[in-house]
Amino acid sequence: MTSKVLAALASCFLLSSIAVIIAIAVIQTYKITYSSPGLKYGIVLDCGSSRTTVYVYEWPAEKENNTGVIRETDKCSVKGPGISDFGLNAIQDQETWLSFRSCMDKVKVKIPASKHNATSIYLGATAGMRLLQLQNDTASNTIMRDMAEYLQSLPFHFQNASIISGEEEGLYGWITVNYLMNNFVERGLWNSWVRPHGAQTVGSLDLGGASTQIAFTTDDGARGDGLTKVTLYGYDYTVYTHSFLCFGKNEAEKTVLAKLVQGSVDHSNVLNPCYPVGFNITMTEESIFGSECTRSLRLAQYNPGRNITILGGGDAAECRRAVRRIFDLSSCGGSQNCSFNGVYQPPVAGQFMAYAGFYYTAWALKLVGSPSLEKFNATLWAFCSMNWQELKENYKITEKHLKSYCYSANYVYTILVDGYKFNSQSWDDISFERQVKNTSIAWTLGFMLTLSNMIPAEPKLVNLPMDNTVFAGVLFLFSALTIITLVFLIILLIRTCY
Ligand SMILES: *[C@@H]1O[C@H](CO)[C@@H](O)[C@H](O)[C@H]1NC(C)=O
Ligand SMILES: *[C@@H]1O[C@H](CO)[C@@H](O)[C@H](O)[C@H]1NC(C)=O
Ligand SMILES: *[C@@H]1O[C@H](CO)[C@@H](O)[C@H](O)[C@H]1NC(C)=O
Ligand SMILES: *[C@@H]1O[C@H](CO)[C@@H](O)[C@H](O)[C@H]1NC(C)=O
Ligand SMILES: *[C@@H]1O[C@H](CO)[C@@H](O)[C@H](O)[C@H]1NC(C)=O
Ligand SMILES: *[C@@H]1O[C@H](CO)[C@@H](O)[C@H](O)[C@H]1NC(C)=O
Ligand SMILES: *[C@@H]1O[C@H](CO)[C@@H](O)[C@H](O)[C@H]1NC(C)=O
Repeated sequence: MTSKVLAALASCFLLSSIAVIIAIAVIQTYKITYSSPGLKYGIVLDCGSSRTTVYVYEWPAEKENNTGVIRETDKCSVKGPGISDFGLNAIQDQETWLSFRSCMDKVKVKIPASKHNATSIYLGATAGMRLLQLQNDTASNTIMRDMAEYLQSLPFHFQNASIISGEEEGLYGWITVNYLMNNFVERGLWNSWVRPHGAQTVGSLDLGGASTQIAFTTDDGARGDGLTKVTLYGYDYTVYTHSFLCFGKNEAEKTVLAKLVQGSVDHSNVLNPCYPVGFNITMTEESIFGSECTRSLRLAQYNPGRNITILGGGDAAECRRAVRRIFDLSSCGGSQNCSFNGVYQPPVAGQFMAYAGFYYTAWALKLVGSPSLEKFNATLWAFCSMNWQELKENYKITEKHLKSYCYSANYVYTILVDGYKFNSQSWDDISFERQVKNTSIAWTLGFMLTLSNMIPAEPKLVNLPMDNTVFAGVLFLFSALTIITLVFLIILLIRTCY
């Protein structure tokens, strides 16, 4: 009879244990769902050479220092040129400022008004402003001052407005890619930080309008330039990064055109093998040679207003040659640890994410994801062989951009293969993507994470809230008791049966 009493007592205990466990689960879920301190926001303006883009990020406040929790909730492109084309009277340029305002009005609506003053706003200007700074320091300072004044007039918490260096831009891009892919750390048992099992970082390939950046981790000693040591969540990384000014998609195209004009017999009628047959365009000398990147290629008599007619040649092989001519491939002297223009680069290794201009070029050719090198070459070859009429019929892309994709595809091929030395095997490790988890791959996120110290150098175990540890302890205790009671009941049952 005692065994029946025991069994009854144990069953009661078992039921209450299970009830406690369920209660803890419900309370925890309730806490996460209803009582979290809410969302935090951050705004970054990417002032590129051809346009300004405003990114709005959002994350749960209590998870601030976790990895992978930030997502992009809004993105707005300001109409008009990049800020480097503003000229000295930026403030008076009504149209551009109207567009700035309409973007910022959109952002103000997106972020609850009560959170405006707690929302940090940052501005980073890239290669367009780097070039202007080389050309006219006064103009560049004036524009940056005007931009900072404008941001300070907004209801947000202004943090910083500066021209970032190419190396910073490359590093921020690398941080963004790996942050979004959760490659740095993840939450382990009892909220500790652990490095994801077998995780490796992914390299970053960014192609803007005026510059291009490569960044990846290397263990090739600490011999060369461009190596930066960073410590994130308690782990050390040696990141190689280099930015090539003037090798952005648009500036490199101007350089290709400038060399074609230089090499032509009649400087007023130039054949461009990268434009399709049946396409022609009149460009002023200034639109090709006015840039700091092509200044040294100007004709003996530079006449900014003179017209040059450019005729499409639609020749993939010739286009490849024209593009290759803008790279100095001989200055590396056959060294394997060198990309082009004599720049040190350890051999590429691991997976790579190719975004921005790399992605848009692959997208235009319907080649996103990881097309093989052979497929990439064959597709661009077919693209370059189509005449203007066929292109317009087969691709629904604005004519302004459509005319240039044969060039940009050859440019992407050349910089990756001849420049960075990807071969048909390592090319398979490149992924052409625009977003990870609905968030744009752009240096802006890494910039915000770095400037706001949201990626701690050291893992912070003290982050772990005390009541969670208590709950965890209670949960553990009751789970153990439940199992012991269950075992006890089973033993009782067996003894009763025999
Ligand atoms: C995140 O880390 C920063 C500094 O590393 C600290 O000031 C901040 O309080 C942390 N935030 C949270 C929510 O733990
Ligand atoms: C932000 O604004 C709210 C009201 O809109 C105010 O209560 C709070 O004190 C302000 N915080 C700061 C840091 O200015
Ligand atoms: C922005 O930050 C950089 C480096 O962190 C600093 O040199 C610069 O003075 C800051 N600019 C402003 C406007 O605060
Ligand atoms: C240039 O293109 C126009 C149509 O856009 C065409 O009418 C004209 O004949 C072309 N000129 C040459 C020289 O091919
Ligand atoms: C250049 O061509 C444009 C039309 O494309 C024309 O309006 C302009 O007058 C031309 N300029 C010169 C200097 O011939
Ligand atoms: C070049 O790379 C190879 C292979 O990674 C390495 O062994 C060598 O030390 C490097 N040489 C220089 C000069 O960096
Ligand atoms: C690219 O493709 C074209 C056409 O299929 C071919 O003639 C050419 O040799 C290829 N180039 C390379 C480097 O594979």
